[in-house]
Amino acid sequence: MTDRYAVLGNPIAHSKSPLIHSMFAKQTGEDIGYEAILAPLDGFAATIERLRKEGYKGCNVTVPFKFEAFRISNNVSNEVIDAINSSHEADAVNTLIFLNNEIIGRNTDGIGLVRDIEQNLKFPLKSKRILLIGAGGAAAGVLHPLLESSQSQLVIYNRTLGRATSLKKTVEQHDKFRLFSIKAVEFGGLKDEQFDVVINATSAGLTDSEIPLPPNIFAPGALAYDMMYGRETPFMKFAREHGAAVVSDGLGMLVEQAAESFFLWRGVRPDTAPVISALRAVK
Ligand code: ATR
Repeated sequence: MTDRYAVLGNPIAHSKSPLIHSMFAKQTGEDIGYEAILAPLDGFAATIERLRKEGYKGCNVTVPFKFEAFRISNNVSNEVIDAINSSHEADAVNTLIFLNNEIIGRNTDGIGLVRDIEQNLKFPLKSKRILLIGAGGAAAGVLHPLLESSQSQLVIYNRTLGRATSLKKTVEQHDKFRLFSIKAVEFGGLKDEQFDVVINATSAGLTDSEIPLPPNIFAPGALAYDMMYGRETPFMKFAREHGAAVVSDGLGMLVEQAAESFFLWRGVRPDTAPVISALRAVK
């Protein structure tokens, strides 16, 4: 019998997840159905209950429900998380696994970003100085895996200093990150520093807004990564004009986070390269 999955969001029509998961299913021979569901803004939990009753096996969750998904999912201990070898708890969850009477919540965004950078773009993060622009849900969701991979310095750079500071404090509560150098800086506050990796995790690209960055921000050989996809953002244009060696959008991250969800549900890891190429071709 076909196992059913879905992505829930509001809006949801633009989602590429059904296409990505149908390509994964075809490639791996897994018998799954995957659909996009528009959940009412005040009806996320009720929609999840309906899906569970109807026998769905899990779902992905996107804007604006990632925080609510965290709240309704069961707390899973770090040991369990490590045991199933996936990403880390953030306050936002993008993957739910319906298991007997439990809803297990996970965030695969961070692992998706790290895989895209390290495996697809062949850019090792170890010991790299990272500038993470943004302090909202998207930034919070990728912070832990980024720090674990770099084991080095990270600056959170945000328009609103208070949000960057509270994100920094949340991370510093974790023993494993206590010795790392994590700074919070507000827009305009970067002075003569250079970074090996600059990641845009803000939604500024949606409105074509510029992010104020010093012209010499990119160290030799630096990577500029925008978590948005589908078009060249002002950040990507700035990076090309100011010496970034590699400039990437977030399409690879989108496919990699989906692959990690697929793996959590099915225990099978799809080959992401042909799916990324196919999506680039239809863009
Ligand atoms: P998401 O889940 O996409 O991260 P969010 O939690 O609303 O959404 O966070 C949006 C992020 O993009 C924040 O870092 C926000 O900066 P503020 O904390 O100062 O609001 C940032 N952002 C949104 N629009 C922006 C713009 N035009 N210029 C710069 N930063 C912007």
